[in-house]
Amino acid sequence: AASLPESYTIRALEKGDFARGFLDCLRVLTTVGDITEEQWNERYDWMDTQGNGGYFLLVIEDQGRIVGTGALIVERKFIHNLGLVGHIEDIAVAKDQQGKKLGLKLIQALDFIAAKVGCYKSILDCSEANEGFYVKCGFKRAGLEMAHYY
Ligand code: ACO
Repeated sequence: AASLPESYTIRALEKGDFARGFLDCLRVLTTVGDITEEQWNERYDWMDTQGNGGYFLLVIEDQGRIVGTGALIVERKFIHNLGLVGHIEDIAVAKDQQGKKLGLKLIQALDFIAAKVGCYKSILDCSEANEGFYVKCGFKRAGLEMAHYY
């Protein structure tokens, strides 16, 4: 597994990450909106981000600042003998921190959790521009994404 640069740590998301720039880190991915601390707390509590409700959110912190994040959502199925499928979502590395293998480290950590909790596969959607990154992380093209926006 890739090692993190010195002074960087990877860990589960904490409530205090609101003040450490977690949402700004996500802004490299897409629009986030103006989320108040109260709204953050409510969503954080609902997700139970340490995995008890199937949501595992990880962050990479460097000296009090969140510089990377990624999520694993574990889906419980009836098929495949009550199979579990990992969904990798919302991978983001701060612009000035890209290219240091932080993204790779996040995927490796999420993959490790997925295998450990018993998922038989993990899947994700990405743009063509990111395909090479996920290939380097061990993923391969499978199927076709379709979406219906409301
Ligand atoms: N295309 C091809 N190869 C890539 C790309 C890319 N877009 N990005 C990184 N790589 C390669 C790197 O060169 C490196 O290769 P090497 O091992 O040969 O040196 C390897 O992939 C690992 O790269 P990292 O340094 O770990 O990548 P980084 O930390 O910059 O994270 C990421 C990549 C997450 C895509 C980052 O650039 C980012 O946050 N981008 C903006 C947000 C985004 O697009 N997130 C992904 C959305 S899809 C989803 O969330 C499921």
